[in-house]
Amino acid sequence: MAAPHHQEVSGFGPLLRQHRTTAGLSQEALAERAGLSTRAVSDLERGVKTRPHPATMRLLADALDLDLGQRAELAAASRPSATVPSPSSPQELAALPVPHASIVGRTQELVTACDLLRSGNVRLLTLTGPGGVGKTRLALELAQTTASDYSSGAAFVELAPIANPDLVPAAIAGALGIREDRDRSLIESIRERLCTDRLLLVLDNCEHLLAGVQPLVANLLGSAPELTVLATSRGPLRLRHEQLLPVPPLALPGRGHAPQVESLAAIPAIDLFVQRAQAVAPDFALTRANAGDVAEICARLDGLPLAIELAAVRIRSLSPASLVALLGARLRLLTTGPHDAPARQRTLRAAIEWSHDLLSSEHQALMRRLAVFAGGFTLESAAAVSKGDDLFATLDGIEALVDGGLLTRVDGIDGQPRYGMLETVREFALEELAASDDATIVHAAHARRQIALVTEAGAHLH
Ligand SMILES: Nc1ncnc2c1ncn2[C@@H]1O[C@H](COP(=O)(O)OP(=O)(O)OP(=O)(O)O)[C@@H](O)[C@H]1O
Ligand SMILES: [Mg+2]
Repeated sequence: MAAPHHQEVSGFGPLLRQHRTTAGLSQEALAERAGLSTRAVSDLERGVKTRPHPATMRLLADALDLDLGQRAELAAASRPSATVPSPSSPQELAALPVPHASIVGRTQELVTACDLLRSGNVRLLTLTGPGGVGKTRLALELAQTTASDYSSGAAFVELAPIANPDLVPAAIAGALGIREDRDRSLIESIRERLCTDRLLLVLDNCEHLLAGVQPLVANLLGSAPELTVLATSRGPLRLRHEQLLPVPPLALPGRGHAPQVESLAAIPAIDLFVQRAQAVAPDFALTRANAGDVAEICARLDGLPLAIELAAVRIRSLSPASLVALLGARLRLLTTGPHDAPARQRTLRAAIEWSHDLLSSEHQALMRRLAVFAGGFTLESAAAVSKGDDLFATLDGIEALVDGGLLTRVDGIDGQPRYGMLETVREFALEELAASDDATIVHAAHARRQIALVTEAGAHLH
């Protein structure tokens, strides 16, 4: 149970001590629960160390079972007074959005991302990955964790609802509290403001506005030396000095294992499913009887958080076993997102369509053609089923699909790059293929390619 709020204490050390004693733990016991040394806990409580690493902070907060408010309070207490917003810093900066629930997993990604931001070498960090993989959720956590490193804090700009790239400056100005000024353009006002501010500017969901985001970000980074940009986008912004950080799906149980329920419950994808299922069916629990089915659901949804959330709400009316049985039609099953979620994320189909609709018609055709490969493919195989069988055009197309988060690159056993579609994306692309005029030609081309590969492999055996 979360510890109740107590009489106010200030400073990280005293606050940590208060939470520990409220939980009835010795320093040793807390250290053991958190997987830290007793010395680390003692140093923090005594103020020998005042700025714990974000990962350490999470371990402590988890071990103390703190709620979101208490976590935020503890994080705020770790901020050195020099980084508390100065009187000259903007008062109107929009507050960071408050997440609906605590983050599951992502310890490693947070550590990597924090290290990159704090290295001093990265001024544009872009979190990339397929729709619903958790880029925005991770960016939010990262912004909350690192905002205190910037004297002017962090500003969060939600770009998803904007359709016109020309409106990007207005969105950024809005988040910074900058008003229109008759004497200068919005871009000039933003530049003037940022050239003195030490700020983390979070640009969330850039993929559909690249034409507006690219020149503006390049311009601001070139003129505002203290500015750091954290972007989320299904694909890269493709700017100089951009540091990419691909966000992987949530970790899944290893295949072929039948681990204990307790260890399964700690695996992030399963943990997320159980938490979201319990939100709609409070009696739901992971048991020996249903753990295998829950693990299968998460694996067949490729560990994609959005898909897992949409599946978990079905627990209101289905058992895990009956959910597994319906997973063949994922896109029809995963359709009941919350009404306050963005339309893009209320169904899995909408999440995929968002990227699909940003592709050229040529690349959309390639995407549906590539759905014929069930277990991934090489560039050469892709060219064999693509229109015109052109290797370079296919390569451009594959890059566009990777940038849209619609294909992932995996290294084959022979070291050759291979590409694959998440199963949910493939189901979408197969539907598109079936509805197009390409289906017969593509299936025939695929069969020819398979025969050629088998013949070639056979020749090597002799
Ligand atoms: N690590 C996580 N812990 C808890 N919930 C998560 C996590 N990652 C993602 N989610 C949830 O999954 C859903 C999708 O996540 P998010 O919006 O961050 O995806 P995204 O990659 O930004 O997608 P898009 O490309 O559509 O913007 C959200 O409801 C989010 O809260
Ligand atoms: Mg997002």
